[in-house]
Amino acid sequence: MAGERTTYSEISPEFDPFHTYEAITEKSYIKAEHSGPLQGEVQVSGTKNMVSKVIAASLSADEGTVRIRNIPFVGDLAITLALCRRLGVNYQLDPSKKELELSVGDFTNPDVISDPYHGNRVAILFAGPVLAKLGRANISKPEGCQIGERKIDYHLQGLKAFGVNITDKGNYYSLSLKKTTLEGTRYDLPFPSVGATENLLITASCAEGVSILNNCALEPEIIELVKILQRSGVDIKTFPDRTLKIVGRKHGITPLIDVIPDRVEAASLAIAALASRGDVFIHGAQHEPLISFLDVLQEMKAGFDIQDDGIRFYWREPLKAADITTEVYPGFPTDFQQPMAILMSQAEGRSSIHETIFEERFRYLDELNKIATLPTSLNISTACPAGLPCRFKDANYKHTAYINGPIGFGAGEIEITDMRAGFAAINAAIISSAEVTIRNLKGLYRGYENPVGKLKSLGAKIELVI
Ligand code: EPU
Repeated sequence: MAGERTTYSEISPEFDPFHTYEAITEKSYIKAEHSGPLQGEVQVSGTKNMVSKVIAASLSADEGTVRIRNIPFVGDLAITLALCRRLGVNYQLDPSKKELELSVGDFTNPDVISDPYHGNRVAILFAGPVLAKLGRANISKPEGCQIGERKIDYHLQGLKAFGVNITDKGNYYSLSLKKTTLEGTRYDLPFPSVGATENLLITASCAEGVSILNNCALEPEIIELVKILQRSGVDIKTFPDRTLKIVGRKHGITPLIDVIPDRVEAASLAIAALASRGDVFIHGAQHEPLISFLDVLQEMKAGFDIQDDGIRFYWREPLKAADITTEVYPGFPTDFQQPMAILMSQAEGRSSIHETIFEERFRYLDELNKIATLPTSLNISTACPAGLPCRFKDANYKHTAYINGPIGFGAGEIEITDMRAGFAAINAAIISSAEVTIRNLKGLYRGYENPVGKLKSLGAKIELVI
């Protein structure tokens, strides 16, 4: 299947852990075909939605060194490390141990600027630490997946409340302190945004005095961030009504951080196992962060067995349709809906996904319809399912999907529209009746570590062609 170009197995990840991400161009593609039931065991990597944030949080310390274990070698981390290099923050990677050692020390460059079109959404999280140290910061505008407008108005309003002047310079923001320090404040988030909560939590930890943040997101990765900052000496109280009280001060660094397993990767791999009618044990898949996902699997009659060190996912009986609404944690995560659409495509009857976090996260269904044996199997509607409250009601966003299963997939070529759609595309390809070519891989490799290698180890007929 490899053709004349280089296949994944010919590249040595030990030589350069980010090699695959960096080697991928617009010419690269994945080819996959019907693989039969996936079988075996696979290890989940550390989560990309925590690693970059703990790097930003560590920079809020006065000085010191932190060892971060279980880091995932994903493109997102490569982008964040490039930001660190630009700032003058020293770090050492140990690819064989999957460890990163970061020395916070003194940095003198206020530029948190990524290469255009090669950024992520992390630069803005460096704002608090860089402002606290240097009094000014130049911050790249966020990039990331095109799944909606993805405004950062809460980040900017929140930073202003801490006493920050902000000037829009086109492709970056120029930030400076009004006084000599960041000043503790109160900010009510209009919606529990993950990124804005992380940003303002980190900023509050290096401000002087008390801050109250209301309506915060409390995703597992954010709770980890709270724990890390607490261990570094910052006083943080969490309240059950989504309020965080932070007493900011000069603080040290926690010397050791373990990145938690990636719950999105675990769910994506679980769906590969289930949609292919296989039986796979996923080491590192954890019960608690997957509860809402497991609830849906139970309703669909998918098999799973929770053990101490992971979860076994297996085909048990024909799947039933289900209806889900994506919500902030602990609701059903938006990042799981794209792989989940593939499982729903294998169930009998009409399933639905009501997306309430991002306005435009269904573009991938148009791609999947290209290889569906019935081209109208996957439909997108602007209407909310009857009776459900929704902040997108009457907004005319195509935010509800209807999946009329069971759906067959055949040969064809599809594009990846965003990171999680990438894994949905792979999952559709390995259950298709013929060969599928998948293009536009950069987003997939920004968020998943070695997806092709992991699926191959479970018996998938899949190849990455660089
Ligand atoms: N929002 C605003 N203004 C803001 C911030 C957010 O209007 O200032 C809106 C967004 O437009 C969106 C909603 O609030 O409609 C939620 O956005 P949120 O800020 O929570 O998302 P994010 O921080 O940009 C992170 C993850 C996403 C994940 C979301 C929701 C990272 C790097 N990204 O994004 O992950 O989907 O939270 O859980 O942590 C992914 O991994 O594929 C991914 C997209």
